[in-house]
Amino acid sequence: GLPTRVRIHEVGARDGLQNENATVPTDVKAEFVRRLADAGLTTIEATSFVHPKWVPQLADAEELFPRVSHLPVDLPVLVPNERGLDRALALGARRVAVFASATESFAKANLNRTVDDALAMFEPVVARAKAEGVQVRGYLSMCFGDPWEGPVPVPQVVKVCHALLDMGCDELSLGDTIGVATPGHVRALLTELDVPVEKLAVHFHDTYGQALANTYAALQHGVTTVDASAGGLGGCPYAKSATGNLATEDLVWMLHGLGIDTGVDLGRLVATSEWMAGRLGRPSPSRTVRALSHK
Ligand code: HMG
Ligand code: MG
Repeated sequence: GLPTRVRIHEVGARDGLQNENATVPTDVKAEFVRRLADAGLTTIEATSFVHPKWVPQLADAEELFPRVSHLPVDLPVLVPNERGLDRALALGARRVAVFASATESFAKANLNRTVDDALAMFEPVVARAKAEGVQVRGYLSMCFGDPWEGPVPVPQVVKVCHALLDMGCDELSLGDTIGVATPGHVRALLTELDVPVEKLAVHFHDTYGQALANTYAALQHGVTTVDASAGGLGGCPYAKSATGNLATEDLVWMLHGLGIDTGVDLGRLVATSEWMAGRLGRPSPSRTVRALSHK
């Protein structure tokens, strides 16, 4: 059967905005996060403490985080290395995420490392975060296909999943970074992956319009944490064919239709994405935002 409740891990302010050509003012980002919290989202990925040259869109992490940290929600942040962790801990972050790759090509493009060297870079990050009582998510990118390498074999993905869990990650987010997965492939990976479903999250991009179908396959498997991006913002600056993430509104429409509780007020969320679309100067790609839009 399907779960009765799903926790949405909102990534619009991070995965969404990191891929915008325009650099969004810190004020607008803070307002975006506040509005997302107002709409009932309880896990809102705020920003990344990465090298500012690699992701200039998030170079204001030090300015942004203190402006949202009072909100009564979980605010995970991405940290690639100990330098990133230091920056996040200095501001009181209580949830961090490291981000690995199932493929060598993307590990090189995103982290300037081999897969193994990136894992070695994360190890002290995870250990120190855990010692501080900070929760750690492990992202795994390119779980289904890679723009340079094509389809990614399931055993190759499973191996890196276990490496992340073995080093102490509390949660594992399975990323379809370029949105090529289909439900059968999702089922195949989840079946092969011998990990308690409570530890799993899914992170779908909607490049081929499969994100909701893939989510449904994951729900049937027992997964109850789903990543999504308000308005369908997003992509990845180091994966050329990545388009937007699954739109949070499209996800909420499906989940509420299935009688699955999310705690999200869809009207408020749509209003937030319409407001953000105005700031970005282009309409939201989310079908649900467009259908419920006031204009
Ligand atoms: P590197 O060039 O190999 O860095 O980059 P390094 O370790 O050689 O250090 C070089 C310089 O950078 C040093 O400064 C460091 O101090 C500095 P210098 O001594 O030369 O003056 N530095 C930093 N500065 C600030 N903050 C830091 C930091 N680290 C080093 N944290 C690095 C390696 C990992 C830093 C770089 O590749 C990087 O920042 N990558 C981040 C890329 C990124 O954020 N990608 C997007 C997120 S992943 C994603 O979107 C996928 C996901 O959504 C899931 C999915 O869809 O699949 C999560
Ligand atoms: Mg992503």
